Amino acid sequence: MPAPTNRFLKACRGEPTDTTPVWFMRQAGRYLPEYRALRAKMDMLSMVRTPEIAAEVTLQPVRRLGVDAAIVFADILLPLLPMGAPFRFAQGEGPVFDDPIRGLADIERLRVDLGDELDYVGRTLELVAKELPQDVALIGFAGAPFTLAAYLIEGGHSRNFARVKELMWGDEAAWRLLMEKLAEVCLTYLRMQLRHGAQVVQLFDSWVGCLSPEDYARYVLPYSAAILGGLRRDGALSIHFGTDTATLLPLMAKASASVLGVDWRLPLDSARGILPAGLPLQGNLDPLLLLAPPEVALEGVRRTLRAARGGPHIFNTGHGLVPETPPDLVKRVVDLVHEEGRS
Ligand code: CP3
Repeated sequence: MPAPTNRFLKACRGEPTDTTPVWFMRQAGRYLPEYRALRAKMDMLSMVRTPEIAAEVTLQPVRRLGVDAAIVFADILLPLLPMGAPFRFAQGEGPVFDDPIRGLADIERLRVDLGDELDYVGRTLELVAKELPQDVALIGFAGAPFTLAAYLIEGGHSRNFARVKELMWGDEAAWRLLMEKLAEVCLTYLRMQLRHGAQVVQLFDSWVGCLSPEDYARYVLPYSAAILGGLRRDGALSIHFGTDTATLLPLMAKASASVLGVDWRLPLDSARGILPAGLPLQGNLDPLLLLAPPEVALEGVRRTLRAARGGPHIFNTGHGLVPETPPDLVKRVVDLVHEEGRS
């Protein structure tokens, strides 16, 4: 097992570090030729369900980039399979649920007992933990209840989340049952990952930025807080992430994760101004800056490091790397963060 003292874990605890730790959301995936070589032989879900392959894919960016953390190769949608909500990844469209949730009866049918159906994720974590150098941390993750509900109800990606909002405002009892079930499954799943070698877990609430602060506080916060509060009581480290959350961050902080993710729409010094002092922040380079000329991208990295100076910081992009990202530039970003990060 990696020692619990590496710079990423220290930053999660708000402790001083030798330099700024760095990793990237979607650091494993299609922008890496070594990922595409494996993916050419297997679909994404088969890769995830084969622990030896998933472990290899998890380690690919660690070897190539020198990042301070690995994130297990899995997907936020996996727990929906044992819940009884099957989906597929359609070429060019992302996830598709052929039978989206329409109301209370569908929600009542959802199961909350995961059984042993996600054990392959635990096995992948064990394999990765054995291989990781001491100074690289291992991150597990899950989708947050709102973002999972959005996929279940919309049946796939959505532009304006109209159906989610319709159910949320239109049938509060059904909404609360759905969020309770998702929160229970999330907490069980994250605890399983922590037992199998994850040292920190990230809760992805990728699409929650479509809500007003009032709706976030009423319809979402209690459920994210149940998960993150449960983890805090366990003594586990957690990261709470969303996009387009500039107006939601003070409420998200109440859910009590160890670290709060911020996207590029809000500079980190501005974020610190509205958040509790000393709260570790993760982010927040625009991932599309990595498609800009390298000197423009690297200037963005320096700007992010300067804006982060007021407190504990984990460098990351504000959302996942896109498939067009040049891997060599990502490596230059890691090196620059380590050279110019806070000492
Ligand atoms: O490297 C890592 O970050 C770990 C692996 C990881 C994946 N998905 C692998 C994946 C993580 C952390 C996720 C999280 C995830 N999955 C999120 C939250 C993060 C975010 O981007 O906001 C969401 C919303 C999903 C749902 C999902 N999975 C979508 C929308 C898609 C299709 C979009 C696309 O890029 O094609 C996936 C598939 C998926 N998950 C891929 C990967 C590498 C692409 C699979 C492939 O075709 O090879």
